[in-house]
Amino acid sequence: MIQNIETITQEVNDFIIENAEALELYRLKFLSRKGSISELFEVFKELPGIEKRDIGKPLNILKSLAEEKFNSHKEQFENTAVDLSAMVDTTLPVYQNELGSFHPLKIVENELVDIFNSLGFDLSEGPEIEDDHHNFGALNFAEDHPARDMQDTFFIGENVLRTHTSSVQIREMERHEPPFRLIMPGRVYRNEAVSSRSNCFFHQIEGLYVDKGVTFADLKQTLYYFVQQFFGEGTKIRFRSSYFPFTEPSAEMDIWAGTETEENKRLTKGTGWLEVLGCGMVHPNVLKACNIDPEVYTGFAFGMGMDRITMLKYGINDIRDLFVNDTRMLSQFKGV
Ligand code: PHE
Repeated sequence: MIQNIETITQEVNDFIIENAEALELYRLKFLSRKGSISELFEVFKELPGIEKRDIGKPLNILKSLAEEKFNSHKEQFENTAVDLSAMVDTTLPVYQNELGSFHPLKIVENELVDIFNSLGFDLSEGPEIEDDHHNFGALNFAEDHPARDMQDTFFIGENVLRTHTSSVQIREMERHEPPFRLIMPGRVYRNEAVSSRSNCFFHQIEGLYVDKGVTFADLKQTLYYFVQQFFGEGTKIRFRSSYFPFTEPSAEMDIWAGTETEENKRLTKGTGWLEVLGCGMVHPNVLKACNIDPEVYTGFAFGMGMDRITMLKYGINDIRDLFVNDTRMLSQFKGV
């Protein structure tokens, strides 16, 4: 018996446990119910009392030794008991976290704001529900003047849904002292049930520059710089005289799109010129309405529709595609 205990002690000591499988073999060999140490205990049970005294102690020492060795290796292999590389199929596609994208209108707005920021224009925004004063009165629209009909207005009681972002010019000029150099994007509303392609709201971006000695030449050069940045170096522009109650003189600016393609002919109605924005020198009456002395200060303003240039830039043919939030369209702008 003593001989057996010594032999098995030796075997326990010599057994190399280098991985989880070896540990399991070790357990089966020594500690399981049919393992060699359990077998020794079976024999021990049958021994006469006198022999038990001498055998009990070394047998228990062997048992503790074997268990300690088992436990110390068990901890070591517990977390890596399963070989992960055998279970993970590295050829399966990775689960992708879906990233959102900016709306194409926002991409264009950010780009426009960046360009004018680089010229020192600050961002400003105003409310979409306006009063008559900010949307019309202070902008030199005469009471009952037919010019108010230029912009088919939605009324909300005494108020209106702003028909243009020019109302933000007034809010800024009433609140602060000149000089002003502002770029003001926002949504505007018009009741135009002209065709199934029209929409009752769209987006504008307004520019305002008021200081001592601002001239029409500053207006032209600023817009020229903007066009080169946004539409590309070498893009030609032209100004046509126009009318707005809040600017004098007023103009419309076109860019040269060309007539080479059928698409360009259609967009420019055969002229090659594409209308991009309205602009002019801030009317003295507008400055006066905001308590700014037109003898001291002059300025220019411009207003541009952002929807159309977004459609141009990305080849979108129906304005309503900008507003239905179809993720099949929007997801194409990921990372733009
Ligand atoms: N508010 C004008 C429009 O909506 C555009 C404009 C803005 C014209 C500023 C001149 C100066 O059509």
